[in-house]
Amino acid sequence: MQKYILPLALLLIAAAASAAQQTVLITGANRGIGYEFVQQYADKGYRVIATCRNPDKAEELNAFAAEHDNVVVEYLDLQDLDGIDKLAAKYDGQPVDILINNGALMRGGKGQAFGTIDYDAFDTFFHINVRGPLKVTESFWPHLQASDDGAVATLTTSQGRAGIPAPGFAYYKSSKAAIDNLQLDIGRKGKKDGVRVMILMPGRVATHGEKPNDFFTPIDQSVTGMISVIDNHSIDQNGDTFSWNEDPREPATDTVSEASPY
Ligand SMILES: NC(=O)c1ccc[n+]([C@@H]2O[C@H](COP(=O)([O-])OP(=O)(O)OC[C@H]3O[C@@H](n4cnc5c(N)ncnc54)[C@H](OP(=O)(O)O)[C@@H]3O)[C@@H](O)[C@H]2O)c1
Repeated sequence: MQKYILPLALLLIAAAASAAQQTVLITGANRGIGYEFVQQYADKGYRVIATCRNPDKAEELNAFAAEHDNVVVEYLDLQDLDGIDKLAAKYDGQPVDILINNGALMRGGKGQAFGTIDYDAFDTFFHINVRGPLKVTESFWPHLQASDDGAVATLTTSQGRAGIPAPGFAYYKSSKAAIDNLQLDIGRKGKKDGVRVMILMPGRVATHGEKPNDFFTPIDQSVTGMISVIDNHSIDQNGDTFSWNEDPREPATDTVSEASPY
């Protein structure tokens, strides 16, 4: 009899650990801030569903997943609405505790001034930055509801609904303002359905090869800060915007000077 006690105890411990393991789903997880979220949540022991639009080309992410059995890489293109539904169906019945709507199109090149709007480019921004995260949130809503403490965090810029005026990047900042605005409705629904909903500003983070300087927040600090905001958020704050450094009013290092996509 005694010989069964140790294996049984180990089995029970493993079952308890697996029951307690939280799941996070991240979009745009192959590089930049999304990839930093992957690494930090993986190190915390979360089960990480790291999604990206080109898994075959996501070399760094795939290498990281190969070394971490709590990380799985999945295809999710924010323009592919059917694909988003398929991924949600694949995880049907499984709780997602945290959804990070991180993936987005930034910048967008020149020629965005009023009078010279490129409407195809404008549509692409709105498809990826507005329709995409909206659809991901809708499709994974049952998974968030299935969690004891589901939370969805959508990344934005200080030039979105927070409205720090900055020249240029019209497609980016107007698309972010639109997705920010939608969080108000989603937040209200979340209060009824028991899902926490927040908007996060990461600060200025050098993800496009910029030389780090005082205006930039180091990527690890920004993401650690945002994870702390997610942990400390309460459902009565649904729909509110928070900077990575936890101050709900202060965009802090989201300081904008010259034309900047931050
Ligand atoms: N960096 C900053 O200073 C800053 C400031 C304010 C807000 N933000 C916000 O923070 C988030 C992450 O920023 P970042 O600096 O890490 O950006 P980034 O380095 O440009 O990375 C963007 C990510 O989004 C993905 N993406 C683009 N189009 C997609 C699509 N159709 N489907 C799925 N994924 C797609 C990209 O994938 P590919 O590799 O396939 O292109 C990439 O993984 C964004 O929402 C951004 O607006 C950033």
